[in-house]
Amino acid sequence: MSSAELSVFIRAIGVHTPERKLTNAELSKMVDTSDEWIKTRSGIGERRIAGPGENPSDMGAKAAAKALERASLTPTDVDLLIVATMTPDVPFPSTACLLQAKLGLRRDIPCFDVSAACSGFVYALQVAKDMMRSGAYRRALVVGAEKLSSVVDWSDRTTCVLFGDGAGAVLLETTSEKNVGLLGNLLGADGNNAELLHCVGGGSAAPATADSLRDGKHFLRMNGKEVFRHAVRVMAESCERVLSKCDVKSEQVAWFIPHQANIRILEAVASQLNVGMDRFPSNLERYGNTSAASIPLALEEAWTDGKIKHGDLVLIVAFGAGLTWGATLLRWHEPTR
Ligand code: ACO
Repeated sequence: MSSAELSVFIRAIGVHTPERKLTNAELSKMVDTSDEWIKTRSGIGERRIAGPGENPSDMGAKAAAKALERASLTPTDVDLLIVATMTPDVPFPSTACLLQAKLGLRRDIPCFDVSAACSGFVYALQVAKDMMRSGAYRRALVVGAEKLSSVVDWSDRTTCVLFGDGAGAVLLETTSEKNVGLLGNLLGADGNNAELLHCVGGGSAAPATADSLRDGKHFLRMNGKEVFRHAVRVMAESCERVLSKCDVKSEQVAWFIPHQANIRILEAVASQLNVGMDRFPSNLERYGNTSAASIPLALEEAWTDGKIKHGDLVLIVAFGAGLTWGATLLRWHEPTR
């Protein structure tokens, strides 16, 4: 068999979330909000908050270590590392390089970050798959790791109630088996709408100054209503287009694992696809929006809860700042426990 025909599947999956829970009740003492408003508008009940020394590379390394342990593999078995994050530990080097050192991965492997905000994990999966199908890399770690609490303005009630921290990792492996693992994919972006969800300070265009810090330029800003509108349209379209590309009907998909942004977004997408919410698992209630970490967190939970079974068709779909979006259809191969 030629290497171009290799399939790529998830051999193992691991997650890590910080201990500290921030409840809606606590938030309502910090800003003018209420548990009732947050729950009805977003479905979020609490979120996890990382401690000062708990960075995306630390959380990502723990999630990746769990995946390796479940696969009974060691860090030296990994041939490629991609980290998806919009909250890197530092502007440079990449969070992937920091994670590589923490986990003790080999030095002869590529390690890099993918920046596509909440779509980062879906983007990184596709990049890994395309690098692996050539046969050059047998096993890859794809990690989504975020510390949104570090870029959230804790005095802005329109955003601070939505986000949380955490990490999830998958160990991908190649196989000569057909019709398994990552089947089809679609990625897209629209930089014309970059200002709908962005952070204007801290980069080379507007480096940190005393004024920029005072003006809160280093915080995430969002036009929630517009983001909501785009998210529903683009996530539903992405699902439809991937299904059509793979010649699969939505009824054949056992589970839709969407980026966990807002329960009302998930309900609207499910309704557009004419799919019941019983096939759209959500952990928003406990984690909020963890950006690039949200899909691996939701995927792991749906699997450990006994929902996703070997052979199931699973459609993951994401949307985020950029704007960016992406969807991947998977034929689930039971990961090692
Ligand atoms: N508590 C109480 N009231 C609030 C809060 C809050 N936390 N936030 C806003 N309000 C108020 C507003 O000020 C407004 O008051 P007004 O009518 O007096 O002006 C009122 O509630 C309604 O505000 P809306 O913005 O219209 O509320 P909406 O129903 O649109 O919900 C929300 C806001 C939850 C942000 C929603 O628009 C949303 O979820 N958007 C998508 C966000 C998202 O998913 N972002 C992540 C994308 S992925 C990524 O890349 C990170």
